[in-house]
Amino acid sequence: MRVMARVLVTRRLTGPALARLATAHDVDVWPAELPPPPAVLRSRAAPAHGLLTVLTERVDAELLDACPDLRVVANYAVGTDNVDLEACRARGVAVGRTPDVLTAATADLTWALILAVARRLPEALAAVRAGHWQTFETTRWLGTGLDGKTLLVVGAGRIGRAVARRGEGFGMVVETAGRGDDLHAALARADVVTLHVPLTDTTHHLLDQAAFEAMKPEALLFNTARGPLVDREALADALREGGIAGAGLDVTDPEPLHPEDPLLEVPNLLVLPHVGSATREARAAMTELAVRNLEAGLAGEPLPHPAA
Ligand code: GLV
Ligand code: GLV
Repeated sequence: MRVMARVLVTRRLTGPALARLATAHDVDVWPAELPPPPAVLRSRAAPAHGLLTVLTERVDAELLDACPDLRVVANYAVGTDNVDLEACRARGVAVGRTPDVLTAATADLTWALILAVARRLPEALAAVRAGHWQTFETTRWLGTGLDGKTLLVVGAGRIGRAVARRGEGFGMVVETAGRGDDLHAALARADVVTLHVPLTDTTHHLLDQAAFEAMKPEALLFNTARGPLVDREALADALREGGIAGAGLDVTDPEPLHPEDPLLEVPNLLVLPHVGSATREARAAMTELAVRNLEAGLAGEPLPHPAA
């Protein structure tokens, strides 16, 4: 038997899946571009049986306590660090996420950053726009070749493995560091380091001052996972003082970065506004997965894509 349930969706989403959900359930979509402030979220979510949340929303005990009828939280992300999983478990609220469908998009974006930083594209583009392109330059804008260099992929999950496969295509020697491996020894060997682990208590500031000290001065660092994996002060120091040669971030701590944040003044740093999964294909597929998680949770069935 299908019973109409109340669902709050905390942002507008692409793809047809939400319209399908709305034929069966009472769906409230937060219409603004910016996330609902926590107190507004609590009151708007209060009557909901299901929540479809974006990673900017903190799903914590306070929110859960405001929603006594809640059965399922479908997070529109592969990561679930914005959700207090323990608090959900304690209240019998199922939690879903959107794995697999964003793996290729995120791996591609990681490579866009690697290639752009290695070949100094932001500087070259700025020079063209500023009228500094005078002739074929023999010694300017020299970047780093990737062929034969060592790529260290930190995290051997789906995205890490997809980034590693692409690295083989670029002729790199690929190393993977997982739990239990000696990260600092691997960092010392790497020319390019890319992070693909979830944010947890143990991975918070995984790249700290000691980690940067272990890296080669010519090494490049990339983070397309979660901002707090990297100690931002230690990163800024390493880039300023030549501890490493460059970095590319699709995620920062905090997000968004203030346009006058001192991190943006550091040389050889390329920052993107968390666009790893931002392809039309991946985002529509994420909507579909999140909606399937919601449908299952509302029906009292196991979620097809539960949080790990
Ligand atoms: C985005 O960062 C995600 O976790 O899907
Ligand atoms: C995410 O899907 C991962 O496992 O890296």
